Amino acid sequence: MLFSTLCGFLAVGNAWAQSSTVDAYVASQSPIAKAGMLANIGPSGAKSEGALAGIVIASPSSVNPDYLYTWTRDSALVFKAIIDQFTLGIDTTTRTEIDNYVSSQQIIQNVVNPSGSLTTGGLGEPKFNIDETARPQRDGPALRSTALITWANFLWAEANTTYVTGTLWPLILNDLNYVAQNWNQSTFDLWEEVQSSSFFTTAVQHRSLREGVRLANTIGQTSVVSGWTEQAENLLCFLQSYWNTAGYITANTGGGRSGKDANTVLASIHTFDAAAGCDALTFQPCSDVALSNLLTYVDSFRSVFPLNSGIAENQAVATGRYPEDTYQGGNPWYLTTLAVAEQLYDALIVWKAQGSLNVTSHSLSFFQLFDSSVAVGTYASSTSTFTTLTTGVQNYADGFVAKVAQFTPAGGSLSEQYSKTNGAQVSAVDLTWSYAATLTAFDARAGTVTASWGAAGLTSSCSTASGGGGGSSSGTVEVTFNVDATTVFGQNIFICGSVDELQNWDPDTALALSSANYPIWSITVALPASTSIQYKYVNKEGLHYHLGSCHDPNMEITTPASGSFIENDTWQS
Ligand SMILES: *[C@@H]1O[C@H](CO)[C@@H](O)[C@H](O)[C@H]1NC(C)=O
Ligand SMILES: *[C@@H]1O[C@H](CO)[C@@H](O)[C@H](O)[C@H]1NC(C)=O
Ligand SMILES: *[C@@H]1O[C@H](CO)[C@@H](O)[C@H](O)[C@H]1NC(C)=O
Ligand SMILES: *[C@@H]1O[C@H](CO)[C@@H](O)[C@H](O)[C@H]1NC(C)=O
Repeated sequence: MLFSTLCGFLAVGNAWAQSSTVDAYVASQSPIAKAGMLANIGPSGAKSEGALAGIVIASPSSVNPDYLYTWTRDSALVFKAIIDQFTLGIDTTTRTEIDNYVSSQQIIQNVVNPSGSLTTGGLGEPKFNIDETARPQRDGPALRSTALITWANFLWAEANTTYVTGTLWPLILNDLNYVAQNWNQSTFDLWEEVQSSSFFTTAVQHRSLREGVRLANTIGQTSVVSGWTEQAENLLCFLQSYWNTAGYITANTGGGRSGKDANTVLASIHTFDAAAGCDALTFQPCSDVALSNLLTYVDSFRSVFPLNSGIAENQAVATGRYPEDTYQGGNPWYLTTLAVAEQLYDALIVWKAQGSLNVTSHSLSFFQLFDSSVAVGTYASSTSTFTTLTTGVQNYADGFVAKVAQFTPAGGSLSEQYSKTNGAQVSAVDLTWSYAATLTAFDARAGTVTASWGAAGLTSSCSTASGGGGGSSSGTVEVTFNVDATTVFGQNIFICGSVDELQNWDPDTALALSSANYPIWSITVALPASTSIQYKYVNKEGLHYHLGSCHDPNMEITTPASGSFIENDTWQS
């Protein structure tokens, strides 16, 4: 008890020191990130000489790697950040840059390129000013239309209707007709490596069509509404298929990797809609499925990067694109580490606004990072559990920013990657997207809520990805384990077993049961349906516990085909 009290004090002390470090970093790095981003935008950016007005270069790096191009996706994400900041009143000095971006995209949309012309697939070309084979990447038009629709909604509200219908709408129409017609073609993922279907692409395509329909209705361009709505419904349905019962989102449907990928975390932050709460259908940042996915993604880098060795399970680590990555050495990236923080800040915004949070069987392992005895349930903001969990999430999130701060060199410039062994800068220098990711993460930390795109209240007739605690996952059933076990104060009961959902016999990560109904300890877990599963309860602090022992299965259950199930056991030492 004394030991854990001391630990508690130390943790609080560290969190406080960390939070002031992060505050200081946010203050010093914000203007640097803004300047670094603008330096890479033509015609007057200090590091983008030769780029035309409104053109965003990915990085000034022209050799190893050569990034002196303008990617449709990177440019759109950069201008989405700029337009969000402008329309929310955070920085209204960038109107010229936004106008230039619009003009530049009027030209770019019409450039005939290896993917085709405007009417034959050319909008899928990922980058311009290079002669290479076509590598269609279908996220660019979706993200560009998202940036432009945010701008259009703002200008429409200001009664600038001529510019919206005359200038912005034709650009948006090209992009969204492309999305509606081509979303079901395979694509290169956002890293331009795997050709299949990509979660990030599907998620941003879905968002773009939904907000396109809203804008079309607002400005009276209703002829597109039924076609785009139909494809948005197909996309939402298809989006569910990326979830896998191991508790994470598979980033790509092909490519032979684990599928654990920053792709999924980036999708969650770029489709955040606070009005949708913790909706699992659209994988909102605070949804149980997105939190389970975040944990799986983060933990996949613990053993991959030497930089992360020895860091406790509930502390932030450096993360990269995907654990199998070898590009430029396969290191952590600034923008992916920041994306984890941003997803968590987005989640905190919603929990605080709603005054409660839900722990479900999907998100239990995530929340146990911050309170090992937390149980499935709803916690109102008046409860100490809510405070413990949200404080824990805030500190964990700040930890990812602190990681970036730790490996930001003096002067604040951010390259693409930082070394997995010593944190030194690697790959393209001054990556524009690194700076944009910094600004959006900082804004989320400050509680900034970006405009709604219409995610609230959507339904889908397709089987949903998540149980959301309700036991509706396809292929899984909610099983409640109750065990009658007498313990002494300080002891806890855990469960481990023969499937991933029961941590594959790993004693270190065995799931903690709740003692809320002591002496009945219980936990609800989503398990594969119609499956025979061995399991064991352990009392890690008990007299008869052998260190590292979670074996000797002495119990077995065969899960039903559907619905839920309650297993009642008695403790066997
Ligand atoms: C509408 O917005 C455009 C783009 O920023 C601007 O050039 C134009 O002056 C605005 N028109 C009005 C009437 O405010
Ligand atoms: C196209 O849609 C169908 C049905 O949703 C899906 O099974 C298929 O994988 C999709 N193909 C691609 C390349 O997105
Ligand atoms: C918690 O779950 C309930 C029931 O499913 C839902 O109505 C509520 O919106 C959820 N709250 C949050 C913050 O997720
Ligand atoms: C376990 O007990 C609950 C009531 O507490 C009951 O509803 C459930 O059917 C029992 N499970 C089994 C497998 O008997």
